[in-house]
Amino acid sequence: MIFEERLLAPGPVPISPQVRAVLARPAMHHRTAEFRTIFVRARERMAHLLAVPGDDVTLLAGAGTTAFEAAFLASVPPGATVVAAHAGKFGERWSLLARRYGHPVVDVSAAWGEALDPAAVAAALRATPGAAAVTVTHSETSTGVLHDLEAIASAARQAAPDALLLVDAVTSLAATEVRPHAWGLDAVIAGSQKGVMLPPGLGFAWLSERAWARLPEAASRHPSFTLDLHAERVRQRQGDTSITPPVPLVLALDLVVGELLEYGIEAWWALKADLNEAVLAGLGALGCPAFAERPSPAVAAVRVPSGLAAPQVGDALLRCGVRVGGGQDHLAATTLRPSVLGHVDAFDALTIVAAFERALHALGSGIEPGAGVATFQARWLASASAARHERPYV
Ligand SMILES: Cc1ncc(COP(=O)(O)O)c(C=O)c1O
Repeated sequence: MIFEERLLAPGPVPISPQVRAVLARPAMHHRTAEFRTIFVRARERMAHLLAVPGDDVTLLAGAGTTAFEAAFLASVPPGATVVAAHAGKFGERWSLLARRYGHPVVDVSAAWGEALDPAAVAAALRATPGAAAVTVTHSETSTGVLHDLEAIASAARQAAPDALLLVDAVTSLAATEVRPHAWGLDAVIAGSQKGVMLPPGLGFAWLSERAWARLPEAASRHPSFTLDLHAERVRQRQGDTSITPPVPLVLALDLVVGELLEYGIEAWWALKADLNEAVLAGLGALGCPAFAERPSPAVAAVRVPSGLAAPQVGDALLRCGVRVGGGQDHLAATTLRPSVLGHVDAFDALTIVAAFERALHALGSGIEPGAGVATFQARWLASASAARHERPYV
């Protein structure tokens, strides 16, 4: 195949040549001093990336959902009531998960595309005395909304000081600001195939000290063998895992998180936000407005022009060599979800807009080719990240 498809979707994301080189290394055994050193360092680096230096970030073979499930089982007592705050497909997942384990669930929702109202979350908690936990998805990848997690956390803590706040940061980690301690979060989970720019296969889970302390006895928790976060924490502190870890992914995690920290995580968040805003501006100039009320830097969800079906535009983009995320559920016909998540630079982001221009032009939408690219360029070049990002590569 001479031409390469460009993956510009909100996960899995493109990975760097350096990561690919690590993944191609000869196999390493995990019960070795060499692996333990790298494993311990990768965990420490993850703790810095999550702004919780010195805390445990537990690595799990699996995905973001695996990590959420493990965090839930570690901290929510069987039978306890859960408040699930959601305004999209991924937020709804945590309501389904809690129900699957037999928990009574109180849903507090907003329309897809809207941001959750912190006051509504607080009201639901006040109306649910004894709720053990509230679940929330920070960056709702199905709608492109970045919920105001800091405000939700503060409102939730005031309304129900004892309820744990369990946060899905699957597409917000390493894409935008997440401050577990400062915001009073109790669990933060993510997966490898998003902001940390690796292939799928690893989940990450951080718990607050009060969440760890909630169910110290195994008998007080839902039984689970491979998802026992408490046991895993003990093993991982020693550089070990209970089950065989995805060794190549751990080696790559160590590398890529080291690079992110060296770049500077705040500069990285700014970069992703600036790129995403430029993409949204460029697509807006093509008649594809942002779908989200409060856009997440992780996903540029847009409506396609009326008269066109989103899958048709998606197919035309593929013919230009660009794969973006499709719309989800009832948004499938009207929205598309390109993304600057992962190993994506300004020219990759520009490619999203250029490909939309070609696709829409090919579909006879009457747009002016160049209008989106010009808007992108103006917005990006005016951004604070542009000067820093476009330094010569070394
Ligand atoms: C916000 C969010 N939560 C959860 C998930 C599920 O993650 P995983 O497929 O890694 O379990 C995704 C996947 O796209 C997501 O975007």
